Amino acid sequence: MLLIRGGTVVKAEGSLRADVLVDGERIAAVGPRLTAPGARTLDATNRLVLPGAIDPHVHMALPAGEGLVSSDDFVSGSRAALAGGTTTLIDFATPAPGESLRSAVEARMAAAARSLCDWSLHPSVTSWRDDTAGDVAWCMERGLPSFKVYLAYQERGLGLRDRDLLRLMSAAAASGALVLAHCENGDAVSFLTQRLLAQGKRSARFHPLSRPPEVEAEAVERALILAEDRGCSLYVVHVSTAEAAETIRRARLSGRAAFAEACPHHLLLDDSCYEREDAADFVMSPPLRSPSHPPELWRALADGTLDAVSTDHCPFMRKDRRRSLDDFSRIPNGVAGVEHRLALLWTFGVLAGRIPESRFVQLVATGPARIFGLAPAKGAIEAGADADLVIWDPGREWEIRAATQKQRCDSTVYEGLRVKGRAETVLLRGRVVVEGGEIRGREESGRFVARRGPPRAAPAARPEGR
Ligand code: URP
Ligand code: ZN
Repeated sequence: MLLIRGGTVVKAEGSLRADVLVDGERIAAVGPRLTAPGARTLDATNRLVLPGAIDPHVHMALPAGEGLVSSDDFVSGSRAALAGGTTTLIDFATPAPGESLRSAVEARMAAAARSLCDWSLHPSVTSWRDDTAGDVAWCMERGLPSFKVYLAYQERGLGLRDRDLLRLMSAAAASGALVLAHCENGDAVSFLTQRLLAQGKRSARFHPLSRPPEVEAEAVERALILAEDRGCSLYVVHVSTAEAAETIRRARLSGRAAFAEACPHHLLLDDSCYEREDAADFVMSPPLRSPSHPPELWRALADGTLDAVSTDHCPFMRKDRRRSLDDFSRIPNGVAGVEHRLALLWTFGVLAGRIPESRFVQLVATGPARIFGLAPAKGAIEAGADADLVIWDPGREWEIRAATQKQRCDSTVYEGLRVKGRAETVLLRGRVVVEGGEIRGREESGRFVARRGPPRAAPAARPEGR
C-alpha cells in the first residue's frame, strides 16, 4: 500500500484537498485524512495530485522517408514522457508501401513493447486494399478502435484519397470506431510546393507558404462533411488555425460527433520563427501560423471546442533537418514536445489565466481517456482506476533546454523558455517511476492498454473559461 498525503487532488470536475490510497496497481480510495498503517507515505503538501497524463498523438521512431527516422524511440520517448508527467502514449502503426494494416500493427506492437509507460496505437489506413476491411475488424477486436488518415502526403504513399476515406468511414461507422484525420489538402500542398520551388523559394522560410490556413480549413470542412455523410465519429488532429477551430465549433454546436486537439507549438509559437536562421528546426505540418491564430486556439480550448492537447511529438536531429536546406519539402516534418506538454500548458494556460486547473486536467488526461476509450482505468483519480498519478509542484520554476531534456534530440523549439510546474513524483500503476524528477522506471515497464470505441457525441461547448 502507498498513501499520498496532504495534496490537492485535481479532477476535471474541480479540485479537493484529499489523500490518495494506492493498493497494488489501483487507486483504493480518495478522501480526506486517510489512514493505512504500514503503508509507504508520499508527502504531497503544497503539491497537486494529477492523474497521469495521456498523450494521444506521438510518433516514436517514425520513418520519414530518405532513410530518416524520428530521433526518439519507444524507450527514450517514453522516458521523456514519464519525466514530464505523461504515463500513457498513443502512437501510430503505419503500413509501409505494399504492407497490410495487420502486419504494420503487429510490427509496431513489438517495437512499442519496450516502452516504459503504458501505450496503445492508432492504426493508420494509407490505402484501401482487399484485406483492409478485415484488418480494421481485427484491430477493433484487439482494442485498437481508432484509425488515422492523412489527407496530405499522397506523394509519400501516406495520404488517402476521398474515395478510400469514405470506405474507411463507412467501416468505422458500422463498427463504432473513431477516425483521426490529419487535415491538409494534399493536392493543394503539392501544387503550392512545386510552384514555390520553381520560383527559387526553396529555404525553410517558405515552408508555411506551401501549407497556408485555407489548406487546413478546406480539409477540416471536407472531413467533417464526409464523416457526417457516413455517420462516423471524427477527431481532427493538430488544429492550427482560427478557421479550422471555428468550423469544428459549428459542427459540435450542431450535435456532430466531432472531436479535436491542439498542440503546444501552435498555441505558443508563430510564423516569425521561419524568419530565424534556424528556421529548419521549426518545420512541422501544419506549420506555425501568424500571431492572430494562437489566441483563437486558446479560446477554443477554454470553451470546449477542442478536447485535448497532444504533442504530435516527432523530433529529428539537426543534422537530419539541415541536409536539405535548399529544398524545404525534403526537411523532415515534426518537433519534440512529449516531455514539456504539461509544464507548457500549466504555465501558459493555467498560470496565465487562460484555462482553470480542472480544464488543464481535462485536456491532458480525462478528455483523451474518454475519447480514446481508456476510461475508466486511465485519466481520472477515482477508486478502482489505475494508480497513474503525478505529484505536481505547481510553482517550481525552470528553463527548457535541449542540453538538459530527456527527449533524444539536439534542439527544442522552446529553447530558453522559462516555465513553472514540474512532475516531482510519477506513479505508473502504483509503481514510483519518477522520483525527484529522475526516472526510476525500467524498459518494458509499460503495458499495452486495450481500448474501447469513442463516445457517440461530443460534449456541448462550454462558456469561456469554465
Ligand atoms: O509535422 C508533423 N506533424 N510531423 C509528424 C508527422 C505527421 O504529419 O503527423
Ligand atoms: Zn502526427
